[in-house]
Formats: sequence, structure tokens, C-alpha cells
Amino acid sequence: MRKADTISLKSAPRIEIDLAKIYQNTKRLKQRFSTKNVSMMGVTKGVLGSPAVAAAMTAAGVDFIADSRIENIKRIKEAGIKNNFVLIRTPSMSKIHDVVKYADISLNTEIEIVRLLSEEALALKKIHKIVLMVDLGDLREGILPGDMASTFRKLREFKGIQTIGIGTNLGCIGAIVPDQKKMDELSRIVFDLEKKFNIDLHLISGGNSANYRWFDQSRNLGRINNLRIGEMVYTGCDTINYQPIDLLECNTSRLVADIIEIKEKESLPSGTVCTDAFGNVPVFSDRGKISRAILVLGRQDVLIQGLTPVEDMEIIGASSDHITIDLKDSSIQIGDEIHFNLTYGALVSAMTSPYIEKVYLNEKYGEIIKQS
Ligand SMILES: Cc1ncc(COP(=O)(O)O)c(C=O)c1O
Repeated sequence: MRKADTISLKSAPRIEIDLAKIYQNTKRLKQRFSTKNVSMMGVTKGVLGSPAVAAAMTAAGVDFIADSRIENIKRIKEAGIKNNFVLIRTPSMSKIHDVVKYADISLNTEIEIVRLLSEEALALKKIHKIVLMVDLGDLREGILPGDMASTFRKLREFKGIQTIGIGTNLGCIGAIVPDQKKMDELSRIVFDLEKKFNIDLHLISGGNSANYRWFDQSRNLGRINNLRIGEMVYTGCDTINYQPIDLLECNTSRLVADIIEIKEKESLPSGTVCTDAFGNVPVFSDRGKISRAILVLGRQDVLIQGLTPVEDMEIIGASSDHITIDLKDSSIQIGDEIHFNLTYGALVSAMTSPYIEKVYLNEKYGEIIKQS
């Protein structure tokens, strides 16, 4: 928190992203994965495909930069960052040209889309690499295990693509844990495909941050030799139980917002209650009169439940443009700033808001690789 007379130089609301912490976390994870011959994709979608973050991850040694949005990959590449670029969401038909142009590899699940990728690659005189995703029970993207061989066979007809590996994604929509059983299943699918088609699959991408615990504890990684990591780098937490990981720095970013109103008011609204702008009926606890502050951002900008004030205060409500806070015993004044730690969900949403300025701390970590 800073006093009103010192804030004029920095705009708020802003998100401060510490590139030194992102660099350190990425480097430590990369080193850890290397001990078991697992390569690392650094996932940048959580920071809106920030070139500075991609540069810090690249400097820290990630083998690939991965993002779910081709627009982000394009921006990172155009900023001059050199790495292998992976689109980690099945391409949409309307983006085929850009996918082939900007991504070296894409994750795929649909034959029709791969056919278009192949045609575009041939037109651009390229070979586009793909990783076929198999659904091991999370029920988001993926070919069912029993359909992998027939899909693989059809893809061999397409001359503009090369299937370099297979992957899976767990711990997402179905929140299924990527445990040893699931990873063994993935390895078995690799063995079966290799045997059936007499090929070598090079990239076996076992999953995301939720795979860390399995990676750490497993004595047999089978054929898995790659992980795609985003959230853990930014939060420093295991994404299965949300406990901090010793190896990593927590809170690589902070949200800062300034106060536009402070008033002593009741804690309970008065009058007949209806639904708020988001269709909810708000519930408040009676604390008598409290010191209420209003911050200059709201639900339109950030996932409110993912914010935790760094100091002893409490978020008590939010609308599109305002967050109200119980200041408790704090003596802060109008114009002062309040700092928040963010969950990954809050980070993703704050990065996407055009009303929140993005400020990088320790900028030199975002520049290293750009120059080399
Ligand atoms: C296919 C895929 N792989 C990897 C990731 C990275 O996941 P996490 O941020 O949990 O590491 C995501 C999500 O961003 C994803 O959709």
C-alpha cells in the first residue's frame, strides 16, 4: 500500500509481473524435469501470451513455448523470441493459415482439421507437426483410446503433416488426476501405435501442472517425455491440492488497485433485497458499522474470488466496476493502493482486461533471449 501523494507516476489498476520469479520458477522446473529426461513446454496463455514472459521462460531454458491462442503465438514470435512454438488447443478451421504459419506444432483431435492443416502446409511448402491427443477420461479434448489406431492410419495419407507424438490432458474439465495408472495407459497406447505402424513417436506429452506430483513421485515415467506447464510457474503451487511447492516462488504477480471512496457505513444493506447485476442474491454478515473502501475495478476485469488482499482487509462485494472492501483497522486513505495476491484464474482474467495495465518487474529477465 502506498500513500496518495506518491502514486501519480504509476497507473492503477495494474498487474505487476515479476519476471525474475517467473525465470527462477521456470528454470527450477526445467532442471527438475531434465533429471528424468522430460522436456518442458512453458505455457503463456495465462499471461495473455506475454512476449516478456515468453522471453523469461526461453531464457530459463524451456524447450517449447506453448499457448492455446494462435494470436498469442504470433505476437510472441513477432517480438523476436526464438523457440519451438506449440498451439495447445485444436486449431479452429478459420485459423488454419495462421496455425501453419506461426506454430511449429499443434495438438489435434479431428481428422478434418488435420486434413486442412496438411493442405495449408503443402501450399506454404512446409511440413506442419502434430501431436494427437487421446482422452483418458477427463472428457475434454481427445480421441478415444480405441479410435487412436484408425485415426493414426487415416492421418498417414496427409503429406503436409507429420505426427510426431501423442499427448493427453487431465485435471481439467473432468478434474481427473493424472496418476500412474493414467500415465501407464498413455505409454501403452504409444507402444501399441509404434508396434502396429512400425514407427517411433518422439514426443509423448503427459499433461500439465497437475502432472507434477506424479512426475515427482513416479519411479517409472514409461514413455512420457514432455509436460506442458503454465499454472505452476505462475503460482508456485501444486495444482492438485494447491499447496506451495518448496522449489518454487509463490505469487509471481500482484494486482494493485487504488481506492476511489472510503466511507464509514453499515455492513448490511437496507431495503428489500433483489438480485445483483450478475443474477445473484448477495449475502452479507452483520458487523455493525465498518470502514468501506471502493476500488477502481470489478467483475468485468478480474475473477474476484481469486483475489486475496496482502494486508488484513476483506473483500465484501463486487459489481462490474467496483470492489468493496472492509478496511478493518487499516489507516489507509483515499487514493492509496491496495495489493492483492492472485490465483491462476484471477491472473488469467486480469491479464485479459484491457483496463488493467501490465507492468513488468525485473525487466531484464524478459530481454535476455530476445537479444541472443
Ligand atoms: C492442453 C493444455 N496443456 C497444458 C496446459 C497448461 O496447464 P497448466 O496451466 O495447468 O499447467 C493447458 C492449459 O492451459 C492446456 O489446455
